[in-house]
Amino acid sequence: MEQTFLQSVTYDNGTLYILDQTLLPAVTEFLEITKVEDAWDAIKQLKVRGAPAIGIAAAYGLVLAANKAPEVDFSSFYKNFKENLEYLASSRPTAVNLFWALQRMDERALAEKDQPVALIKKKLEEEAHQIRKEDEEVCRMIGIHGLALLKDGMGVLTHCNAGGIATARYGTALAPFYLAKEKGWELKVYADETRPLLQGARLTAWELQQAGIDVTLITDSMAAMIMQKGMAEAVFVGCDRVAANGDTANKIGTYGLALLAKAHNIPFYVAAPTSTIDMKTESGDAIPIEMRGSEEITHGFGKNTAPDGVKVFNPAFDVTPAELITAIITEKGIIQGNYSEELKKLFHS
Ligand code: MRU
Repeated sequence: MEQTFLQSVTYDNGTLYILDQTLLPAVTEFLEITKVEDAWDAIKQLKVRGAPAIGIAAAYGLVLAANKAPEVDFSSFYKNFKENLEYLASSRPTAVNLFWALQRMDERALAEKDQPVALIKKKLEEEAHQIRKEDEEVCRMIGIHGLALLKDGMGVLTHCNAGGIATARYGTALAPFYLAKEKGWELKVYADETRPLLQGARLTAWELQQAGIDVTLITDSMAAMIMQKGMAEAVFVGCDRVAANGDTANKIGTYGLALLAKAHNIPFYVAAPTSTIDMKTESGDAIPIEMRGSEEITHGFGKNTAPDGVKVFNPAFDVTPAELITAIITEKGIIQGNYSEELKKLFHS
């Protein structure tokens, strides 16, 4: 049976609707956003999160801003458009989909520069819809390719949330799990809780449970034991940016999982739409890593769990070196081996 999905980012008639992921799983509530500042805030506060979803939200955020701009000459319109684009680009630094989506919007604005501003606004709306629509198909294809790495009854482990609500539909790392379910396969999925913001517990466990997929929640520190006991036979994660050499940034804790997978001789798969692959960033060292506030660790979900004034280190992402990645699952197929070469080929196919 085909799965149904909650649409985490949609747009209708001047309003951007965002499923507030900070309230899940207790409350399912959609924000109604009409101002670019509120779109920026939703991305910054992780109300919308996951690399593809923030790209889509940013594209629509730019539509909100553009629609409010006066219908003057192109250069005044474009100046205002670029200011809003830069503003949205400042919301989060690591997921390259944000910059990718904004660049597509920029290219569209420039391509339409000889048209009246009223028409350019319509074209920008069209482009944002297109980005969203393409992501659905991209995720479905990742699911189809990833399914080839699974078998009925398999135990798999995932980290953070790379599911339907992190994308337009299906998710990336979770897409093969949904397709396996549609085929009637029974997987046993272990979802890392994902400290400190608990995307694994609040979002992945919730999403998979709703889809009727057998999911078991574990704390991050249990992953080693799950592998040692042979309970997980593969790791599937999403990503926020893949550098040109295959080094991959994803939620903090992913690098540790890749090391554990190697130690236990378990394949470590990264699901990456090509919108997450950044050929301009040579290696993982050059990927900007978002640092977040100390309160996420000292006062997680409102409870004080650390002494006042303690020093805190809170990077939101880490980088997994390419040599620890068994394969990268893209919408164009699975790539393996020499990632520098294979990624180049991917963009020329
Ligand atoms: O900080 P988050 O929740 O936005 O981090 C998200 C992740 O790390 C996901 O794995 C990644 O963006 C892929 S989502 C398909």
